[in-house]
Amino acid sequence: MSDQDVIYKTDALIAQDIDQYLKVHEHKTMLRFITCGSVDDGKSTLIGRLLYDSKMIFEDQLAALEADSKKVGTQGGEIDFALLVDGLAAEREQGITIDVAYRFFATEKRKFIVADTPGHEQYTRNMVTGASTADLAVILIDARKGVLTQTRRHSYLAHLIGIQNIVLAINKMDLVDYDQAVYDGILKDYSEFARSIGIATFTPIPISGFKGDNITGPSDNMPWYKGPALIAHLESVEVNSATDAGKPFRMPVQWVNRPNLDFRGFSGLIATGAVRPGDAVRVLPSGKTSTISRIVTLDGDLDVAVAGQSVTLCFADEVDCSRGDVIALADNPPQAADQFEASIVWMADEAMLPGRPYWLKIGTQTVTATIQQPKYQVNVNDAGGVGSHLAAKTLELNAIGVANLSTDRQIVFEPYAANRTLGGFVVVDKISNATVAAGMLHFSLRRAQNVHGRAPAVGRDFQAGLKNQRPAVLWFTGLWGAGKSTIANLVEKKLARMNRHTFLLDGDNVRHGLNKDLGFTDADRVENIRRVGEVAKLMTDAGLIVITAFISPFRAERDMVRQMMQPGEFVEVHIDTPLADAEARDVKGLYKKARSGELKNFTGIDSPYEAPEDPEIRVDTTKLTAEEAADAIVARLIP
Ligand code: ADX
Repeated sequence: MSDQDVIYKTDALIAQDIDQYLKVHEHKTMLRFITCGSVDDGKSTLIGRLLYDSKMIFEDQLAALEADSKKVGTQGGEIDFALLVDGLAAEREQGITIDVAYRFFATEKRKFIVADTPGHEQYTRNMVTGASTADLAVILIDARKGVLTQTRRHSYLAHLIGIQNIVLAINKMDLVDYDQAVYDGILKDYSEFARSIGIATFTPIPISGFKGDNITGPSDNMPWYKGPALIAHLESVEVNSATDAGKPFRMPVQWVNRPNLDFRGFSGLIATGAVRPGDAVRVLPSGKTSTISRIVTLDGDLDVAVAGQSVTLCFADEVDCSRGDVIALADNPPQAADQFEASIVWMADEAMLPGRPYWLKIGTQTVTATIQQPKYQVNVNDAGGVGSHLAAKTLELNAIGVANLSTDRQIVFEPYAANRTLGGFVVVDKISNATVAAGMLHFSLRRAQNVHGRAPAVGRDFQAGLKNQRPAVLWFTGLWGAGKSTIANLVEKKLARMNRHTFLLDGDNVRHGLNKDLGFTDADRVENIRRVGEVAKLMTDAGLIVITAFISPFRAERDMVRQMMQPGEFVEVHIDTPLADAEARDVKGLYKKARSGELKNFTGIDSPYEAPEDPEIRVDTTKLTAEEAADAIVARLIP
């Protein structure tokens, strides 16, 4: 029997009476698992076998779970994220490429969803998200080949995303004459590796997917093996929802259910714990408390609801609570923080840009986050050892790293190890809206708790009042040679003549001092603008009119600086000069050097410029002289 011609039998009941079938299976627990392996490990055969032996194929119609098969090029020597995610619909819309097929089957004792990834080497980026809910991973090994790099990568990843149950299925035992020595050798190799990356326990099972050994029952061919057969193990292992039900109660609020003035409930999926009417609860981050009055579901009110159930909770008092909040036990709530250490799996073609603002989605909360330069990247190749640390300035496609990150406001969280829902997150690019990474929070940084924003003794309004002006940031952006500095200088002079207090920050001067450690890679430009933004903000607190003249080629960072300022204070000035004109001027001959390849990463040549979409002021230098442009800008600032 080959992978292609697995013969599927259909459970007669499905065909005859679907309602009856669903009723029979309704009360069984559900185990979600993933299968990982490299090419030819026999994954499809094994899955076919499980489906076959459980006497039913309930091909994916149940939830139309078959994901799109958008293929992506793979990166040589990189991780294959043969790991699944669940509840991917949202991520899928955001452009993650998934190549995972979900299959459903059931036995007398349990229902199963297995996430299967195509068994070739090109399936990179079939990904992991923090929301992953797999209970178990089956790591397949070809008994003839033993532990391979892929085995180590998949195990590392399964462990990283917090899958508690790992089955080491040593397959194709029929091809090694069911030899215990082969099994023992592989087990020894794998145990050493597992220990080195922190996998405390796993369940090894010698099998033959092809012949059916140790799948449904003990194999006569391997009397030396005393453990459970694969299905028996899958049927008995504890599922996440059971573990999660024993944890303290937490429910992220998905939406406020308010059909009419008489009813107000908070709907969501219970992440952990249990809740009953009468329980004292706390809404986070506000910290307000109330008591549960009702637990409402489509099938009527409940006396108790547990992890994994979707419910609507009603409070005894009017307490503010909205989407993104977390409802928790009053006397044992999760924390809130805005700085963290996290593991990050990068999934976009473009490398991570430390300092760039991204969306971070965690539970039902969405915030802006910036990630710092990684502390290290995790080695996923055998050279040096899977799981060892590598130095890294950024994270490329499929890289895993550990970095600190900060969010623009406090988020309610728990370490991923304690709570996948409140500790797992995805990172979304603000401009393309694509999901670029998945991650896991380790802990909040204590330093954040001990550094408090200081209210200035002399307030900004007072400072500005002394100077008789309103603070502002005139943010010039444009190509090199567009005329930013020339016009900015004129503006500064004109403002000075009007007794305005200004300060001009210019690429060429800042890069000689504050930012002399930075070059012209995308990452360095992001950091350049971040620092300039912070400085400009401090200067507005001093009541100044700040004028900046930086190429500032990326929309994301210009928007970030805009967000840092008070409403209306940021004035984006696009000095719009066609590349050909800027190049024709070429005062210092930089374009010439860039064209000849002597100067790399030059804006407009081999480094991008993202023009503002909706700047406050656009100066068309083909129509205005520098003097005219400066007058127009001043007139706009001081009408
Ligand atoms: S930004 O992209 O990070 O905003 P910034 O405005 O600070 O750039 O610096 C631009 C100045 O650096 C230019 O005025 C130019 O003199 C110099 N420079 C040197 N190399 C480059 C380069 N590769 N691209 C652009 N400017 C460069």
